[in-house]
Amino acid sequence: MKTNLIKCRTLTFFVSVSIAALVLSTSGCGKGGGGLAGEVDSTKGLKDFYKQYFPIGVAVAPNNLEGDEAELIKKHFNSLTAENVMKPALIHPEENRYDWANADKIIEFAEANGMKVRGHTLCWHSQTGQWMFVDAEGNPASKELALQRLKDHITTVVSRYKGKIYAWDVLNEVITDSDTAASIYRQTPWLKICGEEYIPKIFQWAHEADPQAILYYNDYNTENPGKRERIYKMLKKLLDDGIPVHGVGLQGHWNIGGPAEAAIRESIEKFASLGLDVQITELDVSIYTSRNDTINIGFTPEREQKQIDFYKMAFKVFREKKDNITGVTFWNVSDRRSWLDRRGPAAATKAYPLLFDTELKPKKAFWEVVKF
Ligand code: GLA
Repeated sequence: MKTNLIKCRTLTFFVSVSIAALVLSTSGCGKGGGGLAGEVDSTKGLKDFYKQYFPIGVAVAPNNLEGDEAELIKKHFNSLTAENVMKPALIHPEENRYDWANADKIIEFAEANGMKVRGHTLCWHSQTGQWMFVDAEGNPASKELALQRLKDHITTVVSRYKGKIYAWDVLNEVITDSDTAASIYRQTPWLKICGEEYIPKIFQWAHEADPQAILYYNDYNTENPGKRERIYKMLKKLLDDGIPVHGVGLQGHWNIGGPAEAAIRESIEKFASLGLDVQITELDVSIYTSRNDTINIGFTPEREQKQIDFYKMAFKVFREKKDNITGVTFWNVSDRRSWLDRRGPAAATKAYPLLFDTELKPKKAFWEVVKF
C-alpha cells in the first residue's frame, strides 16, 4: 500500500481530492489485482513478503520463461525448479547423449534474475531412460553396469551445474506407500538391480561432484504416519553412516481435504530433529480430494473457501517453522496449467491448485498467504 501511495503521489498532487479518490479506486494503485488486497501492498511479490522467512520457488518448463508468465515469475519467485527437463529421461535420453539445452535455459533465466535453482532429480524410478536398465544386448543390466551408469549420470550432471544449482533432489520417492510390505523400499528397477547399496553411493557421488551442494531426499505423502516413519528410518541410517544427506523435501502435493495441520507440523519437526533442512518442494492444493471425488465439479465457492483455508493454515505452519524450512516451491506457475489437470476424478479437466488463476491474477488464497 505504502509504495503504491508514493507512486500515485505525483498524480494526486495535481488533481482534486475527489478525482484522486476516483483514480485510486480504478487504477489499481491502492488495491491488488484480485481486488482483495485490503491492507496488503500489491506491488510486492510473494518472495518479498517471505523475505525474512525462506525463498519462494516455482517449478517451470522452459516455455513458462517467456511473456506474461515470465513477468509473473520474476515478480513473485526467487527460486526455480525444472518441472521436467532435468529428470534423467530428458537430460540424459541415451547413454552417450545429454540434452542440456532446456536445462540451460532455466539456469540462464535464474542467473539473469538473481534466482536460486534447485536441481530435480538425479535418481528416480520414473521418467528415466529404459536404456539405463539394460545392457548392449537388451538383457537386464548387471549391478556393476547399472551403478556405473548412475555414477556417470550423477557426476556429469552435478558437475555441469556446480555452483549454479545450490540444492539437488538426489533421490526421489524410494519409500513404499504400503504399511504392510516386508521392505520399507518401493520395488524399483534400481533396487532390484543394485540392492539398497546404491542409495548411500548416489549421495556420495553427488557430494564428490559438488561438495557445496545441499543434498535432498524428496517424497510425497510424508505426512502419512507410516510413510513418515519409514522415510525417517532410512534417513537416520544414512546419517548414522556418515552419508552426506542434508535435507528432506516434503513434496506437498496436497488437497483441500488434507493433510491436517498437526500432521504437517509433525513431519517438519520429525525430520528437523535429525538435523536436516526441510523444504516444501512441490506445493499445490487440488480442489479434488481424490480421483473418486465428484466429477468436474469446478472451482465452486465452497471448494475455493476450503482452498483458501488450507493455504492459510499451511503457510502459518511454514512461518512458525521458519528455522527448519529453507524453501517453499510451488509445482507449476498458475491454474492456467497444472500437472494435476486431467488427473482428477474421471480425468477432470482442471484442479485449480495454485495461487494464481488462469489469467495469472492472484487468487483470494494468495492474499491470505501474504497477510500476516
Ligand atoms: C513427482 C515428481 C515431480 C513431478 C510430479 C508430477 O512429485 O517428483 O517431478 O513429476 O510428481 O509433476
